[in-house]
Amino acid sequence: MYVFRKEINFITDRPLIVSYSYSGNTQRIARELQRITGGDWCEIYPWQPYPMAFPELLEQAKQEIQSRYHPRLLPCSKSPRPYQVIFAGSPNWCGTIAPPLASWLSRNDLSGKVIFPFYSHCGGVSCDFKRDISRLCPKATVYQDLSVIDSGGDDLQEILERWLEKTDLMKQWNISGREKADKLKA
Ligand SMILES: Cc1cc2nc3c(=O)[nH]c(=O)nc-3n(C[C@H](O)[C@H](O)[C@H](O)COP(=O)(O)O)c2cc1C
Repeated sequence: MYVFRKEINFITDRPLIVSYSYSGNTQRIARELQRITGGDWCEIYPWQPYPMAFPELLEQAKQEIQSRYHPRLLPCSKSPRPYQVIFAGSPNWCGTIAPPLASWLSRNDLSGKVIFPFYSHCGGVSCDFKRDISRLCPKATVYQDLSVIDSGGDDLQEILERWLEKTDLMKQWNISGREKADKLKA
């Protein structure tokens, strides 16, 4: 069983969904997570856009990952400070987190927060976002990651709900949603 280090009320603690996406797949997953959880979403953008051509992009990604370079980012629309629960996602690049998300994670103090990692991939070299994010955020509690092929296709909602159900988050958010609906009716 997964034990949270800190008591969290998921009904009142609206999550933050933070994501980096190069070609849109991770963004689609992040937007669906936002819809299901009712959380807030913010997209990460590198200050210097990555090359359009794949060989150059791959070369740059490899270099940044090998040297643990954390690229400069454009200002993010949301600060993680008020959030207790954070969903953090990016594509799998060369078997790890894409550098813009690594940048965001290392530049923000996420001590005591609960992080749910997710990533998109194409079925190539596998990765372990739980391990990699735990290294970048040693004082956060990092939950088991969710991997999605491309953007999850027609099954995306089901894939996300199955993952959230394992954490008991779904149950609590559903209750929360019902309570809100009942209040609106009254
Ligand atoms: C530079 C680069 C490296 C990649 N490395 C991997 C990899 O190691 N394993 C994998 O399964 N997919 C890899 N991919 C594929 C992406 O993870 C996949 O296309 C993902 O769906 C892209 O998500 P996005 O549309 O949010 O950017 C790589 C893609 C790029 C551009």
